Amino acid sequence: MRTWMILVLAGAAMAGGAGLPASAQDQQALVARGAYLVNGPAACGNCHTQKNPDLSPRNDMFLAGGERFDTPVFTAYSRNLTPDKDSGIGIWTDQQIIRAMREGVTKEGETLGPPMPVPTYHNMSDDDATAIVAYLRTIRPIHNEVPESKYKIPLRPMNNAKGLPAPPKSDKVAYGGYIVNAIAHCFECHTTPNERGEPDFASHLGAGGFPLPVWPVLSAKPGTIIYSLNITPDKETGIGTWSDDQIKRVITEGIDKDGKQLFPLMPFAYFKKMTPEDLDAIVAYLHTINPVRNKTEPNPTLQSLLK
Ligand code: HEC
Ligand code: HEC
Repeated sequence: MRTWMILVLAGAAMAGGAGLPASAQDQQALVARGAYLVNGPAACGNCHTQKNPDLSPRNDMFLAGGERFDTPVFTAYSRNLTPDKDSGIGIWTDQQIIRAMREGVTKEGETLGPPMPVPTYHNMSDDDATAIVAYLRTIRPIHNEVPESKYKIPLRPMNNAKGLPAPPKSDKVAYGGYIVNAIAHCFECHTTPNERGEPDFASHLGAGGFPLPVWPVLSAKPGTIIYSLNITPDKETGIGTWSDDQIKRVITEGIDKDGKQLFPLMPFAYFKKMTPEDLDAIVAYLHTINPVRNKTEPNPTLQSLLK
């Protein structure tokens, strides 16, 4: 731990919050913002925390990685995001962690592959990236060596991220667009794949039908695929006829317009922790995207997969 951090923490313990020096208050606010993003809209744990058989996150493995993602073109394992010095990111610098998130290049210079949502995090502001790192430094270190991912597809790192500030919250649509496109990676799951199996952002943004493998903890159902759904404002195949409250309920509870409980690959348990303002902004933004007609495959029910 750095000396200043020990001083900050010692200061916090003595002063008990209210009388903190400004820098310690700033640090507290930064960690709180990071905790909000990681456990709310960014939903890092949906991939970086392994699951119990009922699909709830394993608290003993909080953000310790090792979740497996099996597709025809890769077997990937999420990595250990805890401050463990051997198996986690304890000895990485802030800049190294931010570069891995936003450009997909690790401390060792290796390129990260999917499903790590680097194309989304590429648009993340410097403030939010710094907040996420500040929070990750505070979580419990867990020793967990993660197997190496294997990709049959070429991996490309991204250019230098700009780190532009997020739009002001007063501009609801723009701010909602920032959460969707820089934090919550909605479109990396919800965009229809092209012939190469990559999301076709140019013509099918948000139109659904992307195949997502279920987690290996459901080993009784090997190879089950869940398809993302059309979240464009198309009236027949998308969510064009849904009320704002229905859209909010499916985002935060995973219950659709007809009362069906969705599969938690859709990170609703994380999105539930979003502020009402952020949720409002997301819905306002979703109304503005291009409606695309695309009928998606019906998914099996959650109950049938848990059995
Ligand atoms: C949709 C799944 C998914 C989400 C969401 C996700 N990650 Fe990842 N992440 C991965 C996978 C898989 C890898 C490993 C990729 C590989 O092996 O090339 C990874 C790798 C990383 C690495 C590289 C670590 C190392 O040791 O090389 C960092 C850092 C990271 N993720 C941070 C985050 C943070 C922070 C968040 C949330 C803001 C997040 N990830 C959200 C799937 C995800
Ligand atoms: C990790 C992948 C993933 C991410 C990230 C994700 N979703 Fe989903 N979403 C899904 C899947 C899969 C379903 C369908 C689940 C099912 O049918 O059981 C779904 C369902 C939905 C539905 C219901 C549509 C319908 O017709 O019933 C809406 C709306 C939705 N998502 C919006 C969003 C928004 C908005 C975001 C970002 C804030 C988001 N999703 C992020 C995978 C994802």
